[in-house]
Amino acid sequence: MSTTEELQTLVLTILDAKGTIPNTKDLVASDNKEVDQLALLGALKSLSIADKEMVKYETIEEEIWVLTDEGNEIADKGSHEAKVFDAIPVGEEGIAISALREILGETAKIGQGKAFKNKWVIKRGDNLVRAVDSIIDQTRIDLEVIRSTGTHSDPKVLFELRKRKLCDKHKVISYSVSKGPKFSLTIEKQARDVTFEMLQSGEWKTANFKKYNFDALGIPPSGGHLHPLMKVREEFRQIFFEMGFEEMPTNKFVESSFWNFDSLFQPQQHPARDAHDTFFLKDPAICTQFPTEYLKRVKEVHSIGGYGSTGYGYDWKIEEAQKLILRTHTTAVSSFMLYNLAQQKEFKPVKYFSIDRVFRNETVDATHLAEFHQVEGVIADKGLTLGDLIGFMNTFFNKMGVKNLRFKPAYNPYTEPSMEIFSYHQGLGKWVEMGNSGMFRPEMLEPMGLDPEVRVIAWGLGTYCQLTQRFDQP
Ligand code: PHE
Repeated sequence: MSTTEELQTLVLTILDAKGTIPNTKDLVASDNKEVDQLALLGALKSLSIADKEMVKYETIEEEIWVLTDEGNEIADKGSHEAKVFDAIPVGEEGIAISALREILGETAKIGQGKAFKNKWVIKRGDNLVRAVDSIIDQTRIDLEVIRSTGTHSDPKVLFELRKRKLCDKHKVISYSVSKGPKFSLTIEKQARDVTFEMLQSGEWKTANFKKYNFDALGIPPSGGHLHPLMKVREEFRQIFFEMGFEEMPTNKFVESSFWNFDSLFQPQQHPARDAHDTFFLKDPAICTQFPTEYLKRVKEVHSIGGYGSTGYGYDWKIEEAQKLILRTHTTAVSSFMLYNLAQQKEFKPVKYFSIDRVFRNETVDATHLAEFHQVEGVIADKGLTLGDLIGFMNTFFNKMGVKNLRFKPAYNPYTEPSMEIFSYHQGLGKWVEMGNSGMFRPEMLEPMGLDPEVRVIAWGLGTYCQLTQRFDQP
């Protein structure tokens, strides 16, 4: 195939000699081969762009008829029916059908019917006998015409041969080309960049620069992949989606102590609320917007109790709840979501999850950071039991490839009962803690306005190292 430059020279020389090229399909390249129209389009485009305008071209769309492989075979060697006729010897006896099959194979089967229809042959006993002296193989003639002219004068013939899958209609595109306003025989190379040499020689002043193409697409970047931590996150997320969970909005790292602790029935003098454990914000230091009625009920349940509880019996202070902190667990978000759920007119069961960053004021060492990711799941429905929580944990961890779970009673201010989840770590040869779980207390749920029948089971998996430990396993 000719190069773009060869094609451009070809087009320009013909235009120079003849003025126009009515149809490029008749062009013959220097190697005497037909010109590939798609390659030609590239050449024409670059000769006709806005700042060159050496040629003008228009697209010509034509339909031509082309023979299929079988059509070509017939045009070369004759139709099946003609082959049948040719294979029958002249004379009264003809040939046995079985013998014809042996000579012609499939062709015998296909050609016989048509040969009968054309009245070229007749059947005598088990033999086929010629019925005429000579035949005209019209199919072959028609196909030869189509092959050399791209069409046939009788549309019925085209229709018939297409039905027999011997030919088909193709669209061909070619071009008509004429001289453009800046026609010239030589293609001036346009400069792409200002070079050192151009600056030195002063050539940059007169050089013909290629225009910027602001529509050109950039090279798509190859590569790019998820951070290992994001991969684990994605894996968890898929498990949750498979199990019908909805993702909670966790896109805020700063929380009020109210949502992080108070709403979770965590007393204000709890050690976790200490500056040794939690990061407090200096500016702004407090938040003042809370749902008023709910805040009142939280204050009450802490100080004097309610909902069958005696509370903690201390002087609950709003100032403590107002303090802004970096959230210490994603349970702050779960609590906010459950409060919202309680505000709906009608209760409907929900399954929520979240995977995001939390912060704790810890001394940083090889296995501890001051921030890590938590994976949290929450299920709210009437009549849920601890059995549901255990069953659910097993399914969830199995999907992650973690079998062999053990549960140990534990304590959280906001769950009762509570359980720590352990799994046997092959690599470390010991039981490791995977997470913490439990059933949220009525002291947490009822002030929100949830029906006392509604049970909420929840669990949280912590720490960066726990999430990655799985990969260390042999
Ligand atoms: N918030 C707990 C933690 O940070 C995890 C947890 C979540 C426990 C939900 C029980 C229920 O460890």
